[in-house]
Amino acid sequence: MFTSIILAAGMGTRMKSEIPKVLHRVCGKPLCRWVIDESKKAGADTVAAVVGHKAELVKDELGDACGYAVQAEQKGTGHAVMQAGEYIKNAGGYVVVLNGDTPLITAETIRSAVEYHKENGNHATVLTAVLPDASGYGRIVRDSSGSVMKIVEQKDANDEEKLIKEVNSGMYVFDAESLLYALGELKPNNAQGEYYLTDTLEILLAAGKKVGAYIIGDSDEIRGINDRVQLSEAEAIMRRRINEYHMKNGVTMRIPDSIYIEDGVEIGSDTEICPNVTLKSGTRIGKGCVVGTGSVLDRAVIHDNVDILSSVILESEVDSDTHVGPFAYIRPNCRVGKDVKVGDFVELKNSTIDDDTKISHLTYIGDTDVGKGVNFGCGTVTVNYDGKKKYRSTIGDHAFIGCNTNLVSPVNIGDGAYIAAGSTITEDIPENYLSIARARQVNKHVSDEWLAKRRK
Ligand code: UD1
Ligand code: MG
Repeated sequence: MFTSIILAAGMGTRMKSEIPKVLHRVCGKPLCRWVIDESKKAGADTVAAVVGHKAELVKDELGDACGYAVQAEQKGTGHAVMQAGEYIKNAGGYVVVLNGDTPLITAETIRSAVEYHKENGNHATVLTAVLPDASGYGRIVRDSSGSVMKIVEQKDANDEEKLIKEVNSGMYVFDAESLLYALGELKPNNAQGEYYLTDTLEILLAAGKKVGAYIIGDSDEIRGINDRVQLSEAEAIMRRRINEYHMKNGVTMRIPDSIYIEDGVEIGSDTEICPNVTLKSGTRIGKGCVVGTGSVLDRAVIHDNVDILSSVILESEVDSDTHVGPFAYIRPNCRVGKDVKVGDFVELKNSTIDDDTKISHLTYIGDTDVGKGVNFGCGTVTVNYDGKKKYRSTIGDHAFIGCNTNLVSPVNIGDGAYIAAGSTITEDIPENYLSIARARQVNKHVSDEWLAKRRK
């Protein structure tokens, strides 16, 4: 158990954005939300974010995922942690400090670093990584015996220090008491006139405390995001992690690099996700499904053995053994039953479609409850909007709707009713009736003079 403090007050100038940096998303989740969630998975019982730039926006987005401390003016990372003083006082045991712009840090690394800190009896442990190009980062300066002496910022480093490849990740484990003591001693004596959190290590060493470094094996985990290029790089790594997680769970992906799956998607085993598919957060897919090329699913709930081809499904549920697409558009608040066919160029909105119904082509169904085993001919349209209001209709079980039918809502079609092709239905149809609502065809014999005039 530990308290984690996440620094998220910075502006993120290089993002060139109206949105605070920590709210930019990687695989559907804000940067700092990744850090919060990983801290919790690692065992944090309290998480506090230090917010500053557009604090209200950040709080609105994160809600009660964490507690907050406010840093009104950005006077450095040490100053930011000072603002969370109350959380540190209440922490009792250990405090983990993390950055809100490093979404790739994993729960496993945080947990191991806390373990390492405890096992070594450290008062402070800095998480480090060895990078081929260390520029921009603070360098870890060790003495001849290999013990950590201090961290030097790039701007304050001498030529020899600049050659060091071991860098400060900006993440630390502290004993709460030692951290409080060190924060009290911080002075802004550096190139930027800021309170550097990094100085706490030297302060603790001078006070006879034990300081160590935990080296993170996968240096990708410390990648901080400062601009959109780094955002896309982090997203590529996260996307690969997510896709590998699903593949290891039994999901087939033939071209995984083309597939974008957000955080918090569930997929059953033996389901295949085809190239160029987007699955957004909150989507759940059962076993044995195929999600075909080009499909986009957002908060869709798909049961087992469903076959979807090049279609869009938003905030709707599709039951087992149903076939969707190609080019179907299922808009929010639909429930599609078992063994249904939602074919090409079919749009559904705010409707329920019961089991075994076939809507094979070129049809719009909005605000309608459709029964079981209904057959829609090509080109059926529910006319649900009169320019001011929307109206609901019902279609009974086993009704047969002929091609090119307009159903002017509100209208109720009885069970087993038949509608002749080309009808515009404005009145209810009783059970088992046949309804024909179209102009009668007239075949006329015409004179030779008439024909000659037409054909001139
Ligand atoms: C910091 C470290 C550096 C480390 C690097 C890792 C210091 C002095 N330097 O440098 O050793 O290698 O991170 O990425 O700590 N923040 C606030 N309030 C502030 C200042 C910063 O909340 O007043 C937040 C930022 O939003 C960011 C984090 O702290 O999430 C790090 O700040 P940043 O300015 O990026 O520090 P670096 O210069 O990168
Ligand atoms: Mg930084």
